[in-house]
Amino acid sequence: MSKLWGGRFTKSTNELVESFTASIDFDQQFAMEDIEGSIAHVTMLAECEIITNDEASKIINGLRTIEEKINAGLIEYSVEHEDIHMNIEKMLIDEIGPVGGKLHTGRSRNDQVATDIHLYVNKKTKEIIKLVTTVQTAFVKQAEANIDVIMPGYTHLQRAQPVLFSHHMLAYFWMLERDKQRLVDSLKRVNWSPLGTGALAGTTFPINRERTAALLGFENVYPNSLDAVSDRDFILEFLAIASIIMTHISRLSEELVTWSSQEFDFIELDDSFCTGSSIMPQKKNPDVPELLRGKTGRVHGNLFGLLTVLKGLPLAYNKDMQEDKEGLLDTVKTLDGSLRLLAPMIETMKVKKEKMYKAVDQDYSNATDIADYLVTKGLPFRLAHEIIGKIVLYAIQQKKYLLGLSLDEYRSFSELFAEDIFEVLQPKHVVEARNSTGGTAEKQVREQLEQAKALVE
Ligand code: ARG
Repeated sequence: MSKLWGGRFTKSTNELVESFTASIDFDQQFAMEDIEGSIAHVTMLAECEIITNDEASKIINGLRTIEEKINAGLIEYSVEHEDIHMNIEKMLIDEIGPVGGKLHTGRSRNDQVATDIHLYVNKKTKEIIKLVTTVQTAFVKQAEANIDVIMPGYTHLQRAQPVLFSHHMLAYFWMLERDKQRLVDSLKRVNWSPLGTGALAGTTFPINRERTAALLGFENVYPNSLDAVSDRDFILEFLAIASIIMTHISRLSEELVTWSSQEFDFIELDDSFCTGSSIMPQKKNPDVPELLRGKTGRVHGNLFGLLTVLKGLPLAYNKDMQEDKEGLLDTVKTLDGSLRLLAPMIETMKVKKEKMYKAVDQDYSNATDIADYLVTKGLPFRLAHEIIGKIVLYAIQQKKYLLGLSLDEYRSFSELFAEDIFEVLQPKHVVEARNSTGGTAEKQVREQLEQAKALVE
């Protein structure tokens, strides 16, 4: 079969080369963007009198017909025509005759492919923003439903100070809020049109780039044609943001897996989000969070893959850049799927309040509060820290918790202790005492909950 670029060649392409260099297997996913870009281009060519109105409407009708056929699943792509751009152009010429060959006037595949991916990333970024919001809403619901549930807070995975479970849930809300801001901000850079910059240097035709940009909903045109066809920053940025989101999802997943273990037993994931074992009948495995944690690897890999592809490339287009697509498509699919699962999994998760409370009641995480107690009685914090360290050591040796020591025992360490120490040591008191802005006291958590709700409504 003859190539659209066959004029200069005397031999046909080696079959292995043909399949090796083809991208149609994956870039067919950009078919709609490609047609949209072509229609804008042809509309502009007619307005600028580079082709006639009659030619433009024939081409546009032909493209619409192809669009319908693709959507109806009636199209078979061919590796011979390498990529989505040439497959569609070939179909167009078959559909409407030689006038279809006017479509590519004043355009190159280099600005065409860049335009397609800009349109695609723009669309997907907006979809991901919506999905992130659904997950944020799930955290808000869990926080609201469990506003005053007390759980151990950890540093170094050692019990540190008790916190509200709602506070913990909202911590993830804010991570996702920053991710959403990153996505929104990135759109400023995605919304630049490369269309009409040609192969690398611009075009000899009197085209109107601002017009195609406006038709396609871009906010700016790239001011430099070399940059326009070489730029893949916007893909890197999307992959980087996706990597950060997956890192957040992975940290959460790690907690969900840990909390589901018999050792922690803080939550129970809904049966519909767990799977069983083929041999051990008692098992209920947290496969979904495990896989979310695992899939983070491929998303990070896609970012590093493209960074590495681009790092040695001279200007302008190089075929290496065709490698920008599979990682992008894979990241979109993975991120989209992960976020869709996450929202209902969080919403349906059962919180085991008693288990969490029991954990807080049987630890030394109220020790800081004894130190603070002595400080309010006038002792310097360092000195108080030293005394409480000794008390904790003593309690451990006595196999008691801090609430289990008697006032006499306390007073043997410092005369400053009085009966009110036992009130100060109650987990509820410990939590409520942290009433500084952004702290875990219920009043503070209710305030951030209001802020959070306003952001997702
Ligand atoms: N399939 C190519 C890609 O994805 C389209 C651009 C090809 N341009 C070229 N000069 N070979 O990068």
